[in-house]
Amino acid sequence: MRLGVCYYPEHWPESWWADDAKRMSDLGITQVRIAEFCWSRIEPHPGQLCWDWLDRAVESLARARLQIVMCTPTATPPKWLVDRHPDMLAVGADGGTRAFGSRRHYDFSSDAYLEEARRITTLYAERYGSHPAVIAWQTDNEYGCHDTVVSYSPGAVRRFRLWLEERYGTIESLNERWGNVFWSMEYRSFSEIDAPAATVTEASPAHRLDYKRFASDEVVRFNRMQCEILRAHSPGRAIAHNFMLFFTEFDHYDVAADLDVATWDSYPIGALEMFWFEPEVKRRWLRTGHPDFTGFHHDLYRGMSRQPFWVMEQQPGPVNWARWNPAPRPGMVRLWSHEVFAHGGEVVSYFRWRQAPFAQEQMHAGLNTPDRQLDLGGREAQQVAAEIAQLPAHADADVRSSAREAVHSSTRVALVFDYQARWLLQVQPQGADFDYLRQSYEWYGALRSLGLDVDIVSSHVSSLDAYALVIVPSLPVVPSTLVEALARTSAQVLLAPRCGSKVEAVRIPAELPPGNLRRLMPIRVWRVESLRPLVQDVVQYGGKRYACVHWREHLDLEPGAGPVALPEVVPEAVFEDGGSPAVVKAGRVRYLAGWFDAAMQRALLTAAASDAGLAVHRLPEGLRLRRRGHLLYAFNYDDVTHPVPAEACAGASWLVGGVQVPPQGVSIASFDGG
Ligand code: GAL
Repeated sequence: MRLGVCYYPEHWPESWWADDAKRMSDLGITQVRIAEFCWSRIEPHPGQLCWDWLDRAVESLARARLQIVMCTPTATPPKWLVDRHPDMLAVGADGGTRAFGSRRHYDFSSDAYLEEARRITTLYAERYGSHPAVIAWQTDNEYGCHDTVVSYSPGAVRRFRLWLEERYGTIESLNERWGNVFWSMEYRSFSEIDAPAATVTEASPAHRLDYKRFASDEVVRFNRMQCEILRAHSPGRAIAHNFMLFFTEFDHYDVAADLDVATWDSYPIGALEMFWFEPEVKRRWLRTGHPDFTGFHHDLYRGMSRQPFWVMEQQPGPVNWARWNPAPRPGMVRLWSHEVFAHGGEVVSYFRWRQAPFAQEQMHAGLNTPDRQLDLGGREAQQVAAEIAQLPAHADADVRSSAREAVHSSTRVALVFDYQARWLLQVQPQGADFDYLRQSYEWYGALRSLGLDVDIVSSHVSSLDAYALVIVPSLPVVPSTLVEALARTSAQVLLAPRCGSKVEAVRIPAELPPGNLRRLMPIRVWRVESLRPLVQDVVQYGGKRYACVHWREHLDLEPGAGPVALPEVVPEAVFEDGGSPAVVKAGRVRYLAGWFDAAMQRALLTAAASDAGLAVHRLPEGLRLRRRGHLLYAFNYDDVTHPVPAEACAGASWLVGGVQVPPQGVSIASFDGG
């Protein structure tokens, strides 16, 4: 467990650097991320390289025994470079070219920019690749930030056509699979195909989905180029990228496959303000962030990281970029930091060392105020450093071994998360508020509110045998490998509505949904409907009444049909109006014919967990538990004290705090007396 910080030596007088480094080290920080935005200082004119200042900055950090995470500067190409290659700028769906003057002003499909990025990455790698203080690299910075994954430039369209040709082989095959006979959309050659923008009404869903897939592959290509260079010139150093919160515009599993460490940037309060949460929820968690926000991302990125994941940027105080920017409650920076470790993370790196008094982010807090005084966040980081130093050393070893297996050995619950499902349901939501990310997050929160630890896994997971309970949020296209894994595991399985509702290139399966899942769940979904906000269709389940919101399905039960004996389908819950099935169960698999309210989600999970032999602890709102090896962590997001349930901590001894967790407090217990 280590602490880090993001530092911009180019923003401060050189006479401050040594003192900054010493104060970082005194505070308990051991690693420093630098250089991701300083291309204009490294290469002020084409080909004129000025390394001397960065060399000195590196030395001053190294002298204080700080380890360095060096970044490639490709998120901020300088003005002269843009002027040389004006077509490296991305183009929006409205046809407007993105301008220079902020950051991320490049098109992933620009061959000219790819070459420039290759050149500067190689120069960085040659210069610092074998420096003893450099322990890791970050490629670029937050791919996709500010809506920069998809470009509609002529260069992107050219590469899209090649991508399509590779995928479909012939134009006839593309026409057939996209269904282009509809509205006379047939093409005679790949060169006739444009980006799906500026059409009169919606473009074909297959066209739109493929454009998203293509754009994602372009990010993979750009990142892979950097990884290959860094691996060649900087052996033994971990390669990382800093992913974002609630961000799904490219397939993160694909990008992470080229990295050693998946990291993410954690801004819980800004996120609460920017996303779907109801006004009352935003008010409730205004200064803490939503209690499941950080856990969701830790578990998501842990699942795709070869080595234990990191938080590369941790919110240290108020940010500048949300519509409103309240300050975290005292204690929250400490709580968020310990939470990273609880979920199996290895590093918490704060953004940033000192608040900048100039430019776009001058209203964004740092660990220090612009006048070089320690801010509240800095004091809490100091406390965290002291606390982790007291934890038993083997807590680290426990996590190392389990992270290599990509999952936590102790975690018995898996939640499947899939980027392509997200894109398909964005292209064809069928109801304005059908949000796959929100649905996945709701299931995650319901599991966590029952005290369960969760692994978030890809839909391409090869085995689910380690799990006792598997939740599959709406997954329209179900890979055959997942059907196999679901059939093989002995876990209880919950399938959300719309699972198996499409086949590739976006069609309804010939046998109707749930398509290839009928092997596990012999039903036929013959009608679906979306429900506008405030509509709540009543569902009866276990003698209680709950609400179906957003989405409802109508099922036929078809037990026993076909050559293979299929399990018998039993209705478990029914819609009050007409008695049609709302939840059906076949063996250990449940299919949900609706999107249900939080209370029903919890009731269903409680039943499934009990069938799976898992103990659940119904936690008070705001209290969350997490196990890391032999350690049990409790986090209280609430404004009142909550006790840790007695059954959850029986036999444990408290290392930090105790059984009563105060508001915004953290308690840590050990199960091995250590
Ligand atoms: C991140 C970004 C940082 C900084 C930070 C502010 O998205 O990577 O460079 O802008 O947000 O919160």
